[in-house]
Amino acid sequence: MSWTERQRAMLAEMGLRVWDAPATESLAVAVAPEAAEARPTRDPVEPPVTVALPPPGAVAPPPTAIASSAVAAMDWPALREAVAACTACSLHQSRRQTVFGVGHPQAHWMIVGEAPGEEEDRRGEPFVGRSGQLLDNMLRAIGLSRQTPESPDPSKQVFIANTLKCRPPGNRNPLPEELARCEGFLIRQIELVQPKIILAMGRFAVQSLLRSSAPIGQLRGRVHHYQGVPLVVTYHPAYLLRNLTEKARAWDDLCLAQGTVEASAARPAGGA
Ligand code: URA
Repeated sequence: MSWTERQRAMLAEMGLRVWDAPATESLAVAVAPEAAEARPTRDPVEPPVTVALPPPGAVAPPPTAIASSAVAAMDWPALREAVAACTACSLHQSRRQTVFGVGHPQAHWMIVGEAPGEEEDRRGEPFVGRSGQLLDNMLRAIGLSRQTPESPDPSKQVFIANTLKCRPPGNRNPLPEELARCEGFLIRQIELVQPKIILAMGRFAVQSLLRSSAPIGQLRGRVHHYQGVPLVVTYHPAYLLRNLTEKARAWDDLCLAQGTVEASAARPAGGA
């Protein structure tokens, strides 16, 4: 494959160097060396998933703080307040603050990650550590941003949220009960944003949204759907920082997501 100047610029934003390798497309991306992420991550490898979530339709543990029916009716300010006040699981005891999510409230792109880490817990914003820098570079590579400047074009904006709104102590993996109790918030965020595409990053986002415990490697590369919204599965940025060669696949995933949005925008309203 040969790369256009625009593609080269995009890949450079992601920390990827490219050369033209006619024989093998997947070898056409070389990865710039990158230091390992300093803090421990919850997603250093993508092993088969062992955490079991309730299957669709199964009864999740009842929330102790806020009834899910109440969450389902909330507008943005009410939802933000409810998240900030949530004591539905023990994570509220160790958090500095909740991490609600950031971005344009009607962004065409919704990015779903896992849970806040130390830096996110300190700053109250998702993906602000090294994973976040990579995520921002990836988004910038396809012309997207989490900023909401004056008169933003929602088609160029993302809303970034996590499956958990509180940091698990020591950056351990989210527990099934924590995911179940926090899930109503994410569901409502997606309903309010009404994105054109969801990018599910890492196995916990995938478990929550697709109810699948299959490895990311098996789920990526095709378009899934969450409540009718196209959903593309990709690797978590923390995983990419440790597995540099997978960045090429993450780039493919981004291109798949972008192509999906563009195709749906090109279709006449109401068309299949
Ligand atoms: N990893 C995540 O999944 N979310 C964050 O907000 C930060 C790191």
